Amino acid sequence: MRFSTFSTSSLGKKIYMGVMGLILSSFLIVHLLGNLALLSGNKDHFNEYSHFLTHSTGNAIYVIEILFGLFFLIHLVYGIVVTWGNWKARPIGYKMVTNAKGASKKSFASSTMIYSGLLLLIFFVIHLLNFKYGEEIMYVTKDGATIRDLYATVVLFFTNIWNVVFYVAVIVFFGFHLSHGAWSAFQSLGVNAPRFIRFMQIIAPLFAFILTVAFAYIPIFIYLTGGAQ
Ligand code: HEM
Repeated sequence: MRFSTFSTSSLGKKIYMGVMGLILSSFLIVHLLGNLALLSGNKDHFNEYSHFLTHSTGNAIYVIEILFGLFFLIHLVYGIVVTWGNWKARPIGYKMVTNAKGASKKSFASSTMIYSGLLLLIFFVIHLLNFKYGEEIMYVTKDGATIRDLYATVVLFFTNIWNVVFYVAVIVFFGFHLSHGAWSAFQSLGVNAPRFIRFMQIIAPLFAFILTVAFAYIPIFIYLTGGAQ
Protein backbone atom coordinates (compact mmCIF):
# COMPACT_ATOMS: atom_id res chain seq x y z
CA MET A 1 0.00 0.00 0.00
CA ARG A 2 1.32 3.47 -0.90
CA PHE A 3 2.21 5.81 2.00
CA SER A 4 -0.43 8.41 1.05
CA THR A 5 -3.13 5.71 0.69
CA PHE A 6 -2.16 4.22 4.06
CA SER A 7 -2.22 7.67 5.76
CA THR A 8 -5.75 8.38 4.59
CA SER A 9 -7.15 4.87 5.14
CA SER A 10 -9.28 4.28 8.22
CA LEU A 11 -6.75 1.82 9.67
CA GLY A 12 -3.79 4.10 8.84
CA LYS A 13 -5.36 7.01 10.71
CA LYS A 14 -6.04 4.82 13.73
CA ILE A 15 -2.50 3.48 13.70
CA TYR A 16 -1.03 7.01 13.57
CA MET A 17 -3.32 8.07 16.38
CA GLY A 18 -2.41 5.05 18.50
CA VAL A 19 1.34 5.40 17.99
CA MET A 20 1.23 9.15 18.74
CA GLY A 21 -0.91 8.46 21.81
CA LEU A 22 1.60 5.93 23.12
CA ILE A 23 4.51 8.35 22.56
CA LEU A 24 2.55 11.13 24.30
CA SER A 25 1.96 8.79 27.26
CA SER A 26 5.72 8.55 27.72
CA PHE A 27 5.77 12.36 28.15
CA LEU A 28 3.11 12.02 30.85
CA ILE A 29 5.18 9.48 32.79
CA VAL A 30 8.28 11.70 32.67
CA HIS A 31 6.22 14.80 33.54
CA LEU A 32 4.65 13.02 36.50
CA LEU A 33 8.01 11.79 37.81
CA GLY A 34 9.41 15.35 37.56
CA ASN A 35 6.34 16.79 39.30
CA LEU A 36 6.70 14.35 42.18
CA ALA A 37 9.61 16.59 43.26
CA LEU A 38 6.85 19.01 44.32
CA LEU A 39 6.08 16.59 47.14
CA SER A 40 9.65 16.25 48.39
CA GLY A 41 9.37 18.88 51.12
CA ASN A 42 12.35 20.77 49.64
CA LYS A 43 11.56 23.41 47.04
CA ASP A 44 15.15 23.40 45.73
CA HIS A 45 14.62 19.87 44.34
CA PHE A 46 11.81 20.96 42.04
CA ASN A 47 13.31 24.33 41.09
CA GLU A 48 16.73 22.86 40.29
CA TYR A 49 15.13 20.12 38.21
CA SER A 50 13.08 22.67 36.26
CA HIS A 51 16.09 25.00 35.90
CA PHE A 52 18.15 22.10 34.60
CA LEU A 53 15.53 21.29 31.95
CA THR A 54 15.24 24.85 30.71
CA HIS A 55 18.87 26.02 31.03
CA SER A 56 21.22 23.04 30.86
CA THR A 57 19.90 20.91 28.04
CA GLY A 58 20.90 23.25 25.20
CA ASN A 59 18.56 23.10 22.23
CA ALA A 60 17.53 19.51 23.02
CA ILE A 61 14.59 20.64 25.15
CA TYR A 62 13.24 22.84 22.31
CA VAL A 63 13.59 19.98 19.80
CA ILE A 64 11.70 17.66 22.18
CA GLU A 65 8.98 20.28 22.80
CA ILE A 66 8.49 20.84 19.05
CA LEU A 67 8.42 17.08 18.36
CA PHE A 68 5.89 16.39 21.10
CA GLY A 69 3.82 19.40 19.95
CA LEU A 70 3.80 17.87 16.48
CA PHE A 71 2.81 14.43 17.82
CA PHE A 72 0.00 16.06 19.80
CA LEU A 73 -1.21 17.90 16.69
CA ILE A 74 -1.21 14.71 14.56
CA HIS A 75 -3.06 12.83 17.32
CA LEU A 76 -5.61 15.65 17.59
CA VAL A 77 -6.20 16.11 13.85
CA TYR A 78 -6.61 12.36 13.24
CA GLY A 79 -8.85 12.13 16.32
CA ILE A 80 -11.16 14.81 14.90
CA VAL A 81 -11.09 13.27 11.38
CA VAL A 82 -11.86 9.73 12.64
CA THR A 83 -14.67 10.93 14.95
CA TRP A 84 -16.14 13.09 12.19
CA GLY A 85 -16.02 10.08 9.84
CA ASN A 86 -17.82 7.92 12.43
CA TRP A 87 -20.51 10.56 12.93
CA LYS A 88 -21.03 10.91 9.18
CA ALA A 89 -21.27 7.13 8.79
CA ARG A 90 -24.06 7.10 11.37
CA PRO A 91 -26.07 10.25 10.61
CA ILE A 92 -29.12 9.04 12.54
CA GLY A 93 -28.54 8.78 16.27
CA TYR A 94 -28.22 5.13 17.13
CA LYS A 95 -29.10 3.49 20.40
CA MET A 96 -25.98 3.73 22.49
CA VAL A 97 -24.71 0.45 23.88
CA THR A 98 -23.12 1.06 27.22
CA ASN A 99 -20.48 -1.45 28.22
CA ALA A 100 -20.83 -3.90 25.34
CA LYS A 101 -19.35 -7.28 26.18
CA GLY A 102 -16.25 -8.84 24.59
CA ALA A 103 -13.48 -7.02 22.73
CA SER A 104 -15.77 -4.22 21.46
CA LYS A 105 -15.23 -2.17 24.69
CA LYS A 106 -18.04 0.34 24.20
CA SER A 107 -17.94 2.40 27.35
CA PHE A 108 -18.20 5.90 28.80
CA ALA A 109 -14.48 6.35 28.05
CA SER A 110 -14.73 5.23 24.41
CA SER A 111 -17.81 7.37 23.73
CA THR A 112 -16.27 10.52 25.14
CA MET A 113 -12.79 10.33 23.58
CA ILE A 114 -13.30 13.39 21.39
CA TYR A 115 -14.64 15.47 24.31
CA SER A 116 -11.91 14.46 26.77
CA GLY A 117 -9.33 15.09 24.01
CA LEU A 118 -10.67 18.56 23.20
CA LEU A 119 -10.91 19.36 26.90
CA LEU A 120 -7.22 18.49 27.18
CA LEU A 121 -6.42 20.94 24.38
CA ILE A 122 -8.14 23.74 26.34
CA PHE A 123 -6.43 22.52 29.52
CA PHE A 124 -3.01 22.69 27.82
CA VAL A 125 -3.43 26.36 26.96
CA ILE A 126 -4.60 27.22 30.49
CA HIS A 127 -1.91 24.99 32.03
CA LEU A 128 0.96 26.61 30.11
CA LEU A 129 -0.34 30.08 31.02
CA ASN A 130 -0.58 29.01 34.68
CA PHE A 131 2.95 27.69 35.00
CA LYS A 132 5.33 27.77 32.04
CA TYR A 133 4.32 31.32 31.13
CA GLY A 134 3.01 32.13 34.63
CA GLU A 135 4.40 34.60 37.12
CA GLU A 136 8.21 34.51 37.22
CA ILE A 137 9.21 34.67 40.89
CA MET A 138 13.02 34.60 41.25
CA TYR A 139 14.98 33.48 44.29
CA VAL A 140 18.53 32.75 45.41
CA THR A 141 19.32 29.06 46.03
CA LYS A 142 21.51 27.75 48.86
CA ASP A 143 24.36 27.64 46.32
CA GLY A 144 23.95 31.35 45.59
CA ALA A 145 22.46 30.96 42.09
CA THR A 146 19.47 33.12 41.10
CA ILE A 147 16.85 30.91 39.45
CA ARG A 148 13.11 30.87 38.88
CA ASP A 149 11.01 29.81 41.88
CA LEU A 150 8.57 27.78 39.77
CA TYR A 151 7.74 25.86 42.93
CA ALA A 152 6.31 29.05 44.50
CA THR A 153 4.23 29.72 41.36
CA VAL A 154 2.75 26.20 41.52
CA VAL A 155 2.11 26.32 45.29
CA LEU A 156 0.52 29.77 45.09
CA PHE A 157 -1.75 28.52 42.32
CA PHE A 158 -2.91 25.48 44.28
CA THR A 159 -3.74 27.45 47.43
CA ASN A 160 -6.94 28.35 45.55
CA ILE A 161 -9.49 25.55 46.01
CA TRP A 162 -11.15 26.26 42.62
CA ASN A 163 -7.86 25.76 40.80
CA VAL A 164 -7.49 22.44 42.64
CA VAL A 165 -11.06 21.40 41.74
CA PHE A 166 -10.52 22.35 38.08
CA TYR A 167 -7.23 20.42 37.82
CA VAL A 168 -8.55 17.33 39.58
CA ALA A 169 -11.72 17.30 37.43
CA VAL A 170 -9.72 17.60 34.18
CA ILE A 171 -7.22 14.95 35.31
CA VAL A 172 -10.02 12.49 36.22
CA PHE A 173 -11.87 13.04 32.92
CA PHE A 174 -8.58 12.70 31.07
CA GLY A 175 -7.98 9.41 32.95
CA PHE A 176 -10.89 7.91 30.97
CA HIS A 177 -9.24 9.09 27.75
CA LEU A 178 -5.99 7.41 28.75
CA SER A 179 -7.71 4.21 29.79
CA HIS A 180 -9.53 3.70 26.50
CA GLY A 181 -6.65 5.18 24.44
CA ALA A 182 -4.05 2.74 25.78
CA TRP A 183 -6.39 -0.15 25.08
CA SER A 184 -7.40 1.05 21.63
CA ALA A 185 -3.83 1.84 20.48
CA PHE A 186 -2.82 -1.81 20.76
CA GLN A 187 -6.01 -2.93 19.02
CA SER A 188 -5.24 -0.61 16.07
CA LEU A 189 -1.71 -1.97 15.93
CA GLY A 190 -3.21 -5.41 15.47
CA VAL A 191 -1.99 -6.79 18.80
CA ASN A 192 -5.23 -8.59 19.57
CA ALA A 193 -4.53 -12.17 20.55
CA PRO A 194 -7.22 -13.16 23.12
CA ARG A 195 -4.66 -13.54 25.90
CA PHE A 196 -3.22 -10.09 25.18
CA ILE A 197 -6.71 -8.57 25.08
CA ARG A 198 -7.41 -9.94 28.56
CA PHE A 199 -4.03 -8.60 29.74
CA MET A 200 -4.72 -5.13 28.30
CA GLN A 201 -8.21 -5.08 29.81
CA ILE A 202 -6.41 -4.98 33.16
CA ILE A 203 -3.23 -3.05 32.30
CA ALA A 204 -4.80 -0.12 30.36
CA PRO A 205 -7.22 0.94 33.13
CA LEU A 206 -4.56 0.27 35.77
CA PHE A 207 -2.05 2.48 33.94
CA ALA A 208 -4.68 5.23 33.61
CA PHE A 209 -5.73 4.85 37.24
CA ILE A 210 -2.17 5.16 38.58
CA LEU A 211 -1.45 8.26 36.46
CA THR A 212 -4.78 9.85 37.37
CA VAL A 213 -4.40 9.29 41.11
CA ALA A 214 -0.75 10.43 41.12
CA PHE A 215 -1.42 13.61 39.09
CA ALA A 216 -4.55 14.43 41.09
CA TYR A 217 -2.72 13.87 44.38
CA ILE A 218 -0.27 16.75 43.68
CA PRO A 219 -2.72 19.70 43.81
CA ILE A 220 -4.64 18.11 46.68
CA PHE A 221 -1.44 17.55 48.67
CA ILE A 222 -0.26 21.14 48.06
CA TYR A 223 -3.66 22.57 48.99
CA LEU A 224 -3.83 20.57 52.22
CA THR A 225 -0.23 21.08 53.33
CA GLY A 226 0.59 24.48 51.83
CA GLY A 227 3.71 22.94 50.28
CA ALA A 228 7.26 22.90 51.63
CA GLN A 229 8.81 26.05 53.06
C1 HEM B 1 -1.16 18.34 39.02
C2 HEM B 1 -0.66 18.09 37.95
C3 HEM B 1 0.35 18.91 37.19
C4 HEM B 1 1.31 19.80 37.64
C5 HEM B 1 1.63 20.21 39.05
C6 HEM B 1 2.02 20.26 36.46
C7 HEM B 1 3.06 21.17 36.47
C8 HEM B 1 3.66 21.71 35.37
C9 HEM B 1 4.66 22.76 35.38
C10 HEM B 1 5.23 23.40 36.64
C11 HEM B 1 5.02 23.03 34.09
C12 HEM B 1 6.04 24.09 33.60
C13 HEM B 1 7.41 23.44 33.45
C14 HEM B 1 8.49 24.45 33.11
O1 HEM B 1 8.21 25.54 32.60
O2 HEM B 1 9.66 24.12 33.37
C15 HEM B 1 4.23 22.14 33.25
C16 HEM B 1 4.31 22.07 31.88
C17 HEM B 1 3.57 21.22 31.10
N1 HEM B 1 2.61 20.33 31.52
FE1 HEM B 1 2.06 19.99 33.41
N2 HEM B 1 1.50 19.65 35.36
C18 HEM B 1 0.45 18.82 35.76
C19 HEM B 1 -0.36 18.04 34.97
C20 HEM B 1 -0.24 17.94 33.61
C21 HEM B 1 -1.05 17.08 32.79
C22 HEM B 1 -2.15 16.14 33.32
C23 HEM B 1 -0.61 17.24 31.52
C24 HEM B 1 -1.07 16.58 30.27
C25 HEM B 1 -2.02 15.74 30.17
C26 HEM B 1 0.45 18.24 31.53
C27 HEM B 1 1.12 18.69 30.42
C28 HEM B 1 2.10 19.67 30.42
C29 HEM B 1 2.78 20.16 29.23
C30 HEM B 1 2.53 19.69 27.80
C31 HEM B 1 3.70 21.11 29.66
C32 HEM B 1 4.68 21.93 28.79
C33 HEM B 1 6.02 21.22 28.79
C34 HEM B 1 7.08 22.01 28.08
O3 HEM B 1 6.76 22.97 27.36
O4 HEM B 1 8.24 21.70 28.26
N3 HEM B 1 0.64 18.63 32.81
N4 HEM B 1 3.43 21.36 34.06
